[in-house]
Amino acid sequence: MAKVITVFGASGNQGGSVARALAQDSQFKVRAVTRNPTNENIKNLCGYGNVEVIRADANDRKSIEAALQGAYGTFVVTAADFNDRNSVKKETDQGMTIAKACKDHPTLKHIIFSTQLSPREVLGQEARQCDAKTEIDRNMRKMNLPMTAVEIPCNYERLFEDLRPDQVDVDHFRLYIPMGQVPMDFISREDVGEVVRRIFTQTEKFVHKTLAISGDKLTVKRMAEEMTSCLYGKQVFDRQMTYAEFRDLPIHGARDLANHFDFCARVDQRFNVSATKEVFPYVRTFSDWCREKQNILQRICS
Ligand SMILES: NC(=O)c1ccc[n+]([C@@H]2O[C@H](COP(=O)([O-])OP(=O)(O)OC[C@H]3O[C@@H](n4cnc5c(N)ncnc54)[C@H](OP(=O)(O)O)[C@@H]3O)[C@@H](O)[C@H]2O)c1
Repeated sequence: MAKVITVFGASGNQGGSVARALAQDSQFKVRAVTRNPTNENIKNLCGYGNVEVIRADANDRKSIEAALQGAYGTFVVTAADFNDRNSVKKETDQGMTIAKACKDHPTLKHIIFSTQLSPREVLGQEARQCDAKTEIDRNMRKMNLPMTAVEIPCNYERLFEDLRPDQVDVDHFRLYIPMGQVPMDFISREDVGEVVRRIFTQTEKFVHKTLAISGDKLTVKRMAEEMTSCLYGKQVFDRQMTYAEFRDLPIHGARDLANHFDFCARVDQRFNVSATKEVFPYVRTFSDWCREKQNILQRICS
């Protein structure tokens, strides 16, 4: 019988990738959690035969219990809300509501939690998108849940979103990721789902472990060169932005993101490309990803 996996954040980027990867494996039945079943991403998931949708809210314990009923496993990702001044407390409370509900579900054999290291604890700098996840991770361990913590780096796909190259003139674009000369880890969002699917197929091997996954580790200068090689005449370069400059950009959560980049540049994040390849040998390098997304890259740099 197929194992039921409850996927939190199934309408979003990370949870969506996990839900799609699991839905393509007949060993699993996906229970996709959302507060809004009419969401387009959720409707697209329903195209897979083995996906059921459940309405649940991490602020509502009863709805979470229903979402976990009879499940073999769950993928848990919590979301930071930069518009909320109490974002860290709110996200931590939501994660703990899920964790406590997990504790009360004896059928649950494997929880995969999307975690982060927190710069607040190491450097005293706030990065709200990480701080709550570190706290939830620590509490889940204390509760001795059958958990694998998966630490996920910045997604390549952010280059189409908030980290999109900035146009200087008709032929020149600049990347404003403030990492100086320090290489940073990245991964394709779509590969996150496949790595998580494979971890669910080997519960005994991965339970109570932490995996800091990565598809590639490279400097911003090298990223710019890879992008340039796909652009026929247009050039992308590293703008060499500083953290202080990044903090003032009109980007949602700019200060939190700048603090996180600073943290990544100064403190080893434990990400491991070769360990990731052992779980999923086809994890995309940045070069692979650029070639695959060449049409989109050309469109955003035109
Ligand atoms: N993008 C990256 O490069 C990256 C890398 C590593 C880690 N992260 C972190 O991963 C987290 C998720 O990122 P994402 O890009 O997947 O976010 P996203 O696309 O914005 O999705 C957020 C998800 O959270 C769900 N959600 C929010 N509040 C909820 C609640 N009260 N109860 C139940 N579900 C709730 C939403 O579901 P509904 O609205 O459908 O209910 C949605 O599916 C973020 O905190 C981010 O910082 C991101």
